Amino acid sequence: MPRPPSSATLNELKAAAGTGSWFDTPEDMAPYLVDFRRLYRGATPLVLLPRTVDEVSRILAICHREEVAVVPCGGNTGYCGAATPDGSGTQIVLSMRRLNRVRLLDAPNYSMMIETGSTLAEAQAAARAADRLFPLSLGSEGTAQIGGNLSTNAGGTAVLRYGMMRDLVLGLEVVLADGRVMSGLKSLRKDNTGYDVKSLFIGAEGTLGVITAASLKLFPLPAATATALVGLDSPHAALGLLGRLRTAAGEQVSTFELMPRNAVELTVKHVAGVANPLSQGTGWYVLLELTSPNPKQDLATVLTDELQRAAADGMVRDAMIAASIAQSQAMWKLRESVPEAQRHHGASLKHDVSVPVSSVPRLIEEGAALVRRFAPEGEVLSYGHLGDGNLHFNVSQRPGSDTQVFLSRGKPLEKAIFDLVEDLGGSISAEHGIGRLKAEEFASRADPVELALMRDLKRALDPKGIMNPGKVLS
Ligand code: MLT
Ligand code: ZN
Repeated sequence: MPRPPSSATLNELKAAAGTGSWFDTPEDMAPYLVDFRRLYRGATPLVLLPRTVDEVSRILAICHREEVAVVPCGGNTGYCGAATPDGSGTQIVLSMRRLNRVRLLDAPNYSMMIETGSTLAEAQAAARAADRLFPLSLGSEGTAQIGGNLSTNAGGTAVLRYGMMRDLVLGLEVVLADGRVMSGLKSLRKDNTGYDVKSLFIGAEGTLGVITAASLKLFPLPAATATALVGLDSPHAALGLLGRLRTAAGEQVSTFELMPRNAVELTVKHVAGVANPLSQGTGWYVLLELTSPNPKQDLATVLTDELQRAAADGMVRDAMIAASIAQSQAMWKLRESVPEAQRHHGASLKHDVSVPVSSVPRLIEEGAALVRRFAPEGEVLSYGHLGDGNLHFNVSQRPGSDTQVFLSRGKPLEKAIFDLVEDLGGSISAEHGIGRLKAEEFASRADPVELALMRDLKRALDPKGIMNPGKVLS
C-alpha cells in the first residue's frame, strides 16, 4: 500500500526533477487536480515536470523506495479520470509535457522516435515536415499527448484505415515502477524475439510504468482526398454504403463517421461557424473520406459513382462531395464539434462502446428503447466511428428536465447498455479506456481468468502498487 510522502521525500523528488521542474503552489497545481469532464477532483502535494528519461527514472526509483504513489499525466483530455490523483493528497503527479523531443525521424523506414510529452498535433506536424503521415487523428489532438494516446490506446477518426494507437507502435521506452528503464525503442516491422512486452504498457493507463518515448509507424502522405457528407434514413443504410465503398475503394476508405440528425442540429445551434451543407433534412448523416498517396487518383469520381448508385437504390437521400479544402474542413468541423455541442446542451451520460460493425444498427435501436425505459429525461445522441463499430452511445438531458433526476438514471442505464453491448459481443470501453470511471464495471464484467492475469502482471511489474493506484484495476 502506498503511503504519504515525508517532506524529506518531497525535497528529494524536487531535486530529482531539477530546478524549475516542479510545482507545489495551489494555483500552479490546480489544472492537474481535475479531469477534463470534471467528474473527479483530487489533491496532490507536488507536480513534477521532468525533462529527461533519467529524471523520470530517478523520480520513480525514489517513489518505489518510499512507496509513494505516482499519477502520470499527459494532456489531461481523457474521459475516464485516469490522469487525476485521488483526494488523499498523497499521490505525486508526474506531468510529461516537457519530455517532448522528436529523437529521430527515419523517412525511408517510415518511422519516428518521439518522446511522449509531445502532443499528437506536434507528432503529426513532425511527420508532415518529412513528407510522411502519422495517421492517428482525434478532436483533442492539439492538447492530447502521445503518452496519453499510448496509455489509453486511443482511436479516433482514421482507425478504419490505420488502426488504433497500438497498431501504430514499433517500439517503446518505458520507465518501470522501480525506476529501471526498458529500452525497447526498435523501429522494426519484423521482430519475433519472445513476448511482446511493449504491448503491456499500451492501454495500461500508467498503472504498470511510465512510457517516455515511442517508435511510431509513419505512412505516405495522402495526395488525393475526397470528403463527403451524406444524408441517409438509417444506420442500416449507412452500413450498406460502407460495404459498397469498401468494395469499390478498399483501403482508401479512411473515415466513416455516423451522426444522427439531432447531433447535427445541436452542433449547428451551439458551435459558432458550423453549418449543415445538406439541404434535405435526413435522419442520419455520414462524414466519409477516401484518401490516396497518388495525386493522379480521381477519388471524387469513384465517390460520385458510388453515391449515385447508392442514391438510385434508395440507400442515400442527399450528399455533397467537398469541392474545396474549405468545404472539407467545414464538414470535419461539423463532426468534430459534436462533443462540444453536447457539452453546451447540458448534462450527459456517455457510453463509449463497440460492437461488431454489423451489430451497430441493433445497438442503436435496442439502446434507444433502454433509454426510454431507464432515463426518460434523456435523449439519445449516438454518434461515432461506424467504420470501427465504435459508437459513443451518449444520452443528453432533455431541456427543462431535472438535472439531478436525469443524472440519477446514470448507473441503471449504464448497466442496461453494457448488458446489451455484452449480448452483442461488444466492449464496454472502445477507445476511451477504463481509468477510474469504469474500473468497477470492468472488474465485474471481465473474464475472470484474464482479470486474474492482469492482477498478476500488475503485481509483477509494480509490486508496491505505486503506479496510478485505483485506475483500470479497482
Ligand atoms: C469523439 O469521437 O468525438 C470522441 O471520442 C467522443 C466524444 O468526445 O464524446
Ligand atoms: Zn470517438
